[in-house]
Amino acid sequence: MSEIPAPTTTLTLDEVNPASFDFWLRDDIHGAMARLRHERPIAWHQHPDSGRGFWSLTRFDDVAAASRDWETFSSAYGIQVMTDPEDAARIGIRSMISTDPPKHTKLRAIVNRGFTPRMVAKAEDSVRRRAREIVDAVAPRGEIEFVSEVSSVLPVAIICDMVGVPDADRPRLLDLTNRLLAGGDAEYGGTKESLVQAGHELRDYGLWLGRSRLEHPQEDIATTLVHAEMDGEALPPEDLGPFILLLIAAGNETTRNAISHGLWALTTFPDEKRRWLDDLEGHAATAAEEIVRWASPLLHMRRTLTRDVSFGGVEMRKGEKVAMWYVSANRDETHFEDPYRFDITREPNHQGGFGTGGPHFCLGAHLARREVVVMMRELLRRLPDIEATGKPEKLRSNFIHGIKRLPAAFKPV
Ligand code: HEM
Repeated sequence: MSEIPAPTTTLTLDEVNPASFDFWLRDDIHGAMARLRHERPIAWHQHPDSGRGFWSLTRFDDVAAASRDWETFSSAYGIQVMTDPEDAARIGIRSMISTDPPKHTKLRAIVNRGFTPRMVAKAEDSVRRRAREIVDAVAPRGEIEFVSEVSSVLPVAIICDMVGVPDADRPRLLDLTNRLLAGGDAEYGGTKESLVQAGHELRDYGLWLGRSRLEHPQEDIATTLVHAEMDGEALPPEDLGPFILLLIAAGNETTRNAISHGLWALTTFPDEKRRWLDDLEGHAATAAEEIVRWASPLLHMRRTLTRDVSFGGVEMRKGEKVAMWYVSANRDETHFEDPYRFDITREPNHQGGFGTGGPHFCLGAHLARREVVVMMRELLRRLPDIEATGKPEKLRSNFIHGIKRLPAAFKPV
């Protein structure tokens, strides 16, 4: 099989700016990121819409090195380039993802208790049941809007089941996490202010949920959290709300896009779809991993320098922001053979979609993989001719690799 050549871009090196929200609406993003990776792998970018400038890391090895060196590349001052270190204090919401060890280690140990084998097994059952229900609901129709009717339905249901969010509150939480992570998309607010407002509402919701579980314990993560202790004391309220916010946002806004990109990839690579259909069970695990690599649902995570450092031959200063572009690392030709081939049997596949190591590696990676496997398998088993019938409508964001809408069709059953 011949190697698929790297895609091209019409942008010059200086015109490539992944900070720009509009950049991510283009069709040649992978060509543009390849240009950066080859010609200026560590680049300084100004944020044209919001926030100060920052360093962009585009090679897999650089992203991995920064992820592991948490003492230099701190998470404690915010996680996306749209915000600046001082915004973190203004927003006032510090969840585990925006802390460093040793506090991070303690918080993560607490939430790990919520992800016990028993909880995860329970979640697996509900992933299968929910995926069946989702396909039952659309199967007779033949034409659907895939994101609102399929891909966004499963993750919110699963994480809300696990955390213990009552059914009636879920549409509101879906709306809030959309607004929290909308980047610059006006459909969901699209400003720093709307982001901050959504964050506050989610944090308050988390606090309310926690308090109600103190009075009426259930078998869910919210109950585990309110009964957890840190340094011998109950988890303080200022940690509880953000914790619940993080789980709901992280569980919701990422997996949905993996599933949407998955359908788009199988539509644009019909041979891969046929291969998967020939052995649905056998290819499921490698196909799901490849979907996450291909999709890179989180475009980047941001860190902030705690000291002056010489990194990859570039002098960086304390306080500067650094973006780790997973979307580029996941197409790095020094790390992946034939990276522009969507290959459902790719092995090995040490993809960085869930992070590239270090203390913040995705807590929900196992759950997310199960959701992608079960949802795609259910779709292909029952609606084998399903395909996208139009291009994805993209989210205007430099953080979430989001698809807002994707028309799809299949033979009704
Ligand atoms: C395909 C879906 C998903 C992708 C691509 C994804 C990706 C990521 C990435 C890139 C990070 C940050 C890694 C770093 O900074 O080094 C992260 C962290 C995290 N993810 Fe996921 N994630 C997904 C699904 C989920 C799900 C379903 C949950 C549900 C609980 C979840 C919960 C978290 C949490 C709590 C963190 C913070 C971990 C920490 O700070 O220690 N994620 N995820």
